[in-house]
Amino acid sequence: MTKLNWGMIGGGEGSQIGPAHRLGAQADGNFVLAAGALDMDAEKGRAYAQSLGVAADRAYANWQEMLEGERAREDRVDLVTVATPNSTHFEITKAFLEAGFNVLCEKPMTMTVEEGEEIVRVAEASGTICAVNYCYSAYPMVREMRQMVKTGQIGKVRLVVANFSHGHHGDASDADNPRVRWRYDPAMAGVSGQFADCGIHALNMASFIAGDEVRSLSADFASTIPSRTLEDDAMVNFRMEGGTVGRLWTSSVAIGRQHGFDIQVFGETGGMRWASEQPNQVFYTPVGGRTQIMEKGEAGLSDEAARLSRVAIAHPEGFPLAVANIYVDLAAAIRGDARNALPSATDGLRSMAAVYAAVESAKADGTWVDARPPMLR
Ligand code: NAI
Repeated sequence: MTKLNWGMIGGGEGSQIGPAHRLGAQADGNFVLAAGALDMDAEKGRAYAQSLGVAADRAYANWQEMLEGERAREDRVDLVTVATPNSTHFEITKAFLEAGFNVLCEKPMTMTVEEGEEIVRVAEASGTICAVNYCYSAYPMVREMRQMVKTGQIGKVRLVVANFSHGHHGDASDADNPRVRWRYDPAMAGVSGQFADCGIHALNMASFIAGDEVRSLSADFASTIPSRTLEDDAMVNFRMEGGTVGRLWTSSVAIGRQHGFDIQVFGETGGMRWASEQPNQVFYTPVGGRTQIMEKGEAGLSDEAARLSRVAIAHPEGFPLAVANIYVDLAAAIRGDARNALPSATDGLRSMAAVYAAVESAKADGTWVDARPPMLR
């Protein structure tokens, strides 16, 4: 099959998420890195792109040049990944969608609910694909859990408990480090710190597995390091449209927790647990029965879990290959085979509405707030 042309904005040398995208996009041979504006430093970005094999005339100084250069080409990129800091996502994503490019945008998709609604409208009007990188939803065993809920294997979901709590910003003596400080500064991060950074991954996964959307929430935010304006810890209770009860804890000061993302789903006839630090297993307990460890690659899993796994049972398959699964589904969608599990602009919008609802609730001592975006009420 012919390879698709892929372009990247941000994710330059030394960035956190850039390597996962490069490994992910190219893991299955679907995409070739054909163009890029990889760095806020134009020369550094051009040089790095060329070192990755991008032709000199497609190693752009900035995204505006890339937009102009690519839209004029016959072999324009089939997909653009936006992996820049949060406050730039809206402008870049919107411009590329309007020009007819497919986009994979990093989370959070936008900084406001209004911007999120605008992206959903623009993507619909342009007929392009706009996906958001909720990559944890693409682990094979997360897809298995979703499938188990869908096929009634744990009955109606009563309760979802999700945590995304790490301790990497828990050292008060490091709080002024520029790489840490911006995340808690409203001028750079927006209205929310930890909840917008990590909490939305957990909330998205709760919806993804339960097959239901968040309707309302009540939040308690804390800035446990006093120099921080935005929260570094949050507890959020939520209710889903179908009545499922949700609990979510997210923190960046939970010293000793490393990645710290796990989720438990409790239904009327069974419960399941998955953790990103052991992503190849799901612990499943049927009501009245014994706990079973379900293993990626074993017989009897759903087609969805099987198709997204590449290596044999018991061989670890981790984060970059979960990102790769997003690209597998994007390649299929670009080639005309729609994938309904691909995280969409609507998912990005729902997250932003939940962020604003949580901020409003936290300011009002945990009052319950409607967490749905106005356009989806
Ligand atoms: P970073 O600060 O490590 O890297 C950002 C990169 O973008 C740098 O190479 C920088 O030079 C470049 N850049 C900045 N402004 C640019 C511009 N206007 N044009 C072109 N390049 C530009 O940031 P990090 O941690 O890689 O985060 C980037 C995005 O990815 C954020 O939105 C973050 O929330 C998201 N992220 C998502 C993760 C996930 O699990 N889906 C995990 C980590 C980050």
